Amino acid sequence: MKGLVLSGGKGTRLRPLTYTGAKQLVPVANKPVLFYALEDLVEAGVTEIGIVISPETGEQVKQAAGDGSRFGARFTYLLQAQPLGIAHAIKIAQPFIGADPFILFLGDNFIRGGIVPQVNAFRGQAMDAQIILYEMQDPSSMGVAILNDQGRVQRVVEKPKQFISPYAVIGIYMFSPLVFEAVHAIQPSARGELEITDTIQYLVDKGLNVRAHRLTDAWVDTGRIGDMLEANRLVLDVMSGKNDGSVENSVLEGRVILEQGARVVNSKIRGPAIIGKGTLIENAFVGPYTAIHHDCVVRNCEIEHSIVLDNSRLEDLRARVADSLIGRNAQINHTAGPSQTIRLMLGDFSQVGL
Ligand code: G1P
Repeated sequence: MKGLVLSGGKGTRLRPLTYTGAKQLVPVANKPVLFYALEDLVEAGVTEIGIVISPETGEQVKQAAGDGSRFGARFTYLLQAQPLGIAHAIKIAQPFIGADPFILFLGDNFIRGGIVPQVNAFRGQAMDAQIILYEMQDPSSMGVAILNDQGRVQRVVEKPKQFISPYAVIGIYMFSPLVFEAVHAIQPSARGELEITDTIQYLVDKGLNVRAHRLTDAWVDTGRIGDMLEANRLVLDVMSGKNDGSVENSVLEGRVILEQGARVVNSKIRGPAIIGKGTLIENAFVGPYTAIHHDCVVRNCEIEHSIVLDNSRLEDLRARVADSLIGRNAQINHTAGPSQTIRLMLGDFSQVGL
């Protein structure tokens, strides 16, 4: 069994951050969200993995993930020259997949409990495809599945305008090579893409054995800032505290992870929180559910429930930063004016003086 991980796309919902970086490389608890997908596959025994990249962010993804040896896997990069849809990515991956069954994993999907049970079910039973469903009150921004009385997949619709079922089809799919017939047969949708939902519907219409696994654990499609923060909370909630850095005249409450060379001086950190390699926290308060990546400076300020990417500086802030996502190499200071809570969504190299 092979793996196919999609790591292209434009990430329009995470702009401005994604003007300069791949959405799949935005860190969740200081690790790119893409790496969770790669680790989930390896944990399920899948080590031959194709990674679909785009011309815009492909090099960054390659640089970050490497040849796979670090994950105990082998990666093959497949260039999708244009974002023509998930099913189009399957099409271009056909020479890599060959005659093997495979797991398709969208690189911005985060699933807390991994995929071992689903992969075991797919391996153990003779299915042509398996999709994973997540019950939601409003799944209208997803593919949505309708099941029949026996719990078999009857219909799959992409982003239905009207409520048809509570079951969102999440971005992890298992296919036999029969899927290649489907991706060659379907036509582009109104948004100009070859849709994964049309692919699945094709298999259903052919009378093939398409099963659905209902997920009970947490899943997040990390397309927006709120979803990134949610994935960050889910991971920080289960991490244990660890101190590979140094602490001077400071208080650490709850589970705090200090990565190598992180320094905390005259500060208070209330976990769960993670402070990256070489980052300095000085005269500051870092509140719950905050992840600060490597080589940052957080000085004379307060921050909580936020993600800060590498090499950024938050200094002399009168306001408390909350619910924020701050890109790489950003600089924020705020030496005058009223203090209140500020919520920021800042791209790489932003400079903000308040
Ligand atoms: C895509 C699929 C959709 C699926 C979703 C999961 O949506 O088209 O069927 O439910 O991924 O993340 P998109 O990211 O293109 O909006």
